[in-house]
Amino acid sequence: MVCRAAAPNSHPSTMPVHYVTYKGIKFPPAYNSVHSLSFAHNEFLVRDDDVFNITYPKSGTVWMTEILSLIRSHGHPSWNQTVLNSDRMPWFSTRLGLEAALSYPSPRLLTCHLPRHIFPKSFSHSTAKVIYTLRDPRDVVVSYFYFCKMCNSYEDPVSFEQFLRDFLSGELPHGSWFEHVRGWMQMKDRENFFFITYEELKQDLQGSVRRLCHFLGQNLDDDAISSVVQNASFTAMRQNPMCSSILLPADIMDQTKGQFLRKGICGDWKNHFTVAQSETFNRIYLEKMQGLDVAFPWDRDQDPDLTEQ
Ligand code: A3P
Repeated sequence: MVCRAAAPNSHPSTMPVHYVTYKGIKFPPAYNSVHSLSFAHNEFLVRDDDVFNITYPKSGTVWMTEILSLIRSHGHPSWNQTVLNSDRMPWFSTRLGLEAALSYPSPRLLTCHLPRHIFPKSFSHSTAKVIYTLRDPRDVVVSYFYFCKMCNSYEDPVSFEQFLRDFLSGELPHGSWFEHVRGWMQMKDRENFFFITYEELKQDLQGSVRRLCHFLGQNLDDDAISSVVQNASFTAMRQNPMCSSILLPADIMDQTKGQFLRKGICGDWKNHFTVAQSETFNRIYLEKMQGLDVAFPWDRDQDPDLTEQ
């Protein structure tokens, strides 16, 4: 999600949210415009040394921003502690992020939630690197539900039941999780594409950072790796106003309704889904992910054949 101190076109919580729609996908109005999205898609020039942090919302975007900026700084935390995450890795498809991206000296670190089919066309012919972070979609939907309650650029969810239904039918802002994942995972065998899950980051952050360094061609010694791990921990991030979103104006992010860095755990869906919701979810998940030749850490719960093994 975008974290940016200056946020024009914001909506007080009582006003309805008029989403920006581009290619049939809804985007929050505070940051996006049809022009910024169309520019990103059709005209934005990807540079060969760009590194993109790409996610579906609530999958660990800001966490990856912290990790990648710390890797870029060889583990020294001063950049992360003094510059907003959105300025370290601009959201180039948003109005303000686009300006920042265009004036960013190479090599750039850039962020977006764009699905593959509206990602910059110029990427097809470039060697720019993409890091795609995914998360158990059940935890995504729970995290997204709470985020929408506190962020006034999103409609306040009517109920978790309705929110889950909208997630499954691809009606939420930023489009369908399933299409996002399917679109990006088509690149899984490309050399300039690296995917990782939130669950892997949680399970082994040090090993994940080492793998990221290898992909990025950055040599960090053990002390530098430890510093990345320490400064990208949930606790350290909560204490860092440059990534915790507390600097956002109250009319954008209502901090009385929750925290952006909410729980930071795997499996919170179990505290929210009913048995019936879980069964419906599994059925739709299996249908929609059919033929995608990748095993994710959460797949085991969803396939009854695998669970029984
Ligand atoms: P929860 O709402 O489940 O706590 P995004 O940045 O894509 O919007 O994702 C936000 C989610 O990532 C939130 O999930 C947030 O707490 C979690 N997150 C961010 N930094 C984290 C960290 N260092 N460790 C664990 N989870 C983190």
